Amino acid sequence: MFNTNPIGVFDSGLGGVNVLAALRRNLPNENYIFYGDTANNPYGNKPVERVRELTLNGVRYLLSKEAKAIVIACNTATSAVIEELRRTLLIPVFGIEPAIKPAVTSLKDGKVLLMATPLTIAEKKLQNLLEQLPNRESVVPLACHRLAEAIEAGNDEDIKKILNDLMSRVDIGKITSVVLGCTNYPLAIDKISEALDKEVRFYDGSAGLARHVHRVLTERNDLNLSQNNESAENVRFIFTSDSTAKEKRAREILSVFRKCEFHQA
Ligand code: DGL
Repeated sequence: MFNTNPIGVFDSGLGGVNVLAALRRNLPNENYIFYGDTANNPYGNKPVERVRELTLNGVRYLLSKEAKAIVIACNTATSAVIEELRRTLLIPVFGIEPAIKPAVTSLKDGKVLLMATPLTIAEKKLQNLLEQLPNRESVVPLACHRLAEAIEAGNDEDIKKILNDLMSRVDIGKITSVVLGCTNYPLAIDKISEALDKEVRFYDGSAGLARHVHRVLTERNDLNLSQNNESAENVRFIFTSDSTAKEKRAREILSVFRKCEFHQA
């Protein structure tokens, strides 16, 4: 039996499209429905209860379209609500998390800069993860106020200004690796590199997450094996505002990330 129902992918906006691209690299035959809550982002500076409400709202929509699995392609929403979703839904639920473990495990010298939204940095989920590390002091958390929204808006000047300001607070000399703990950040990797002004290793969790989704759906016999289905049509985009313009950008992002896998986690 083939399961042709879509995989539902949720994000607060466009960042999650690079997670969708990673999913398609691993699971090209699947149908996808992507929900981007552009009317309500950024999530990263909202109270956790509000992020929970908005995420549940998006997930309800994806369920109404008969999603066979849910992928929360937003680190901020994952920190706020993933445990509740796993407890309450009968289908597999996946979330993206900052790829701290692989970054710390392969660290030879120096420190890991962890870039994420203020909410992700403040949440218990991340604090627990940090506490479990043998070398917690090797991670430098950086709450990146306003960065996700500038990337979402595609405002290059703003992105550069915000990054320069953020990096001026970090002892860059010690940084050898950078964890991109927000799905918007890979969209601005060149500017992040420029602001750091040195060679670093970048880590982002989308490739690892996509492999995990592949494994779980294979085990459950839930893959769509019916045809070679990879085409623009196997993705449906739903944005809560400005949908034509957002879909255009989303399809551009999908094609940029179609092959590339710069990340190591
Ligand atoms: N894409 C979200 C994440 O991965 C953050 C963007 C926002 O603040 O809405 O954390």
